[in-house]
Amino acid sequence: MGNEITAAYKAKPAELFISDVKWKFLNYCVLQGKNVLITGPAGSGKTVTIKQIAEAYKAEHPFFYINCGSTQDPRSTFIGNTHYDKSAGTFFSQSYFVKAIQIPNAIILLDEISRAHPEAWNILMSVLDINQRYLRLDEEVDSPTVEVAEGITFMATANIGNEYTSSRTMDKGLLDRFLQIEMEVLNLDEEYALLQTYFPNAEKRSLHVIAQIAERTRKEVQSHSPKISFSISTRTTLEMARLLENGFTLAEAAEILIYPAYDPVGGNDSERTFVKQLAQKYL
Ligand SMILES: Nc1ncnc2c1ncn2[C@@H]1O[C@H](COP(=O)(O)OP(=O)(O)OP(=O)(O)O)[C@@H](O)[C@H]1O
Ligand SMILES: [Mg+2]
Repeated sequence: MGNEITAAYKAKPAELFISDVKWKFLNYCVLQGKNVLITGPAGSGKTVTIKQIAEAYKAEHPFFYINCGSTQDPRSTFIGNTHYDKSAGTFFSQSYFVKAIQIPNAIILLDEISRAHPEAWNILMSVLDINQRYLRLDEEVDSPTVEVAEGITFMATANIGNEYTSSRTMDKGLLDRFLQIEMEVLNLDEEYALLQTYFPNAEKRSLHVIAQIAERTRKEVQSHSPKISFSISTRTTLEMARLLENGFTLAEAAEILIYPAYDPVGGNDSERTFVKQLAQKYL
């Protein structure tokens, strides 16, 4: 590691399961103001990873969160709105995003950028481009431009891959403006360790069963001809453990949280039947 990064490197939080090299790389992105995109399946820890790195640097780097997936109107989210007031007349109010990009050293999370409206991607192009770094407020009179302040790190998350037909296919130009890392799929030991970290008082055998079922679905999805289209996420394994803590049995937790997620079409050949049979081996 470069001296500067070694000196400024923040320790990885115990509850975050990500490889050391990826954590180191995220430290580098913050310290160097790089645009970074984290990809991976739903519930694999993309958002929590960025929140953790932002938390680690909050003393030096103010954090701003934009949920791109929920924006109905990209122009008002990324630029602002024109209002009318009897005394003030017509005036323009800058969005939260416009304010954020003017704060030096800010970390700005563009969460679920893969779900953003294509118009949002267009607006972000010049902001993210290392040679441009400006935003044109074309909603305002004379369309002034706002420069992106020094030291800003844009961090984004995206669901990209064949599992995610609901997300739009991201624009190549936009993707090109980010360094990318992929969330890793946790193996059995890692998933079990994660569950134990979050639920230290839970029955170990049950947590291990949850981790085993999740791992089987993960292996299946990565196999040559998978019988299911997505695997059980860490978000789901944590929810299952939470049900156990609240008096549910493993079978009940599976019935509530696993089976309904899988397609029942096809009866005995359906994804749901496959997952039920897989889970029942462990229950
Ligand atoms: N690798 C991980 N380390 C620690 N916690 C994790 C990890 N993966 C998932 N989690 C936990 O699972 C839950 C879901 O994680 P998170 O919201 O970050 O997923 P995501 O990848 O952003 O999903 P989505 O694509 O649906 O937004 C959180 O409670 C988080 O703490
Ligand atoms: Mg997320």
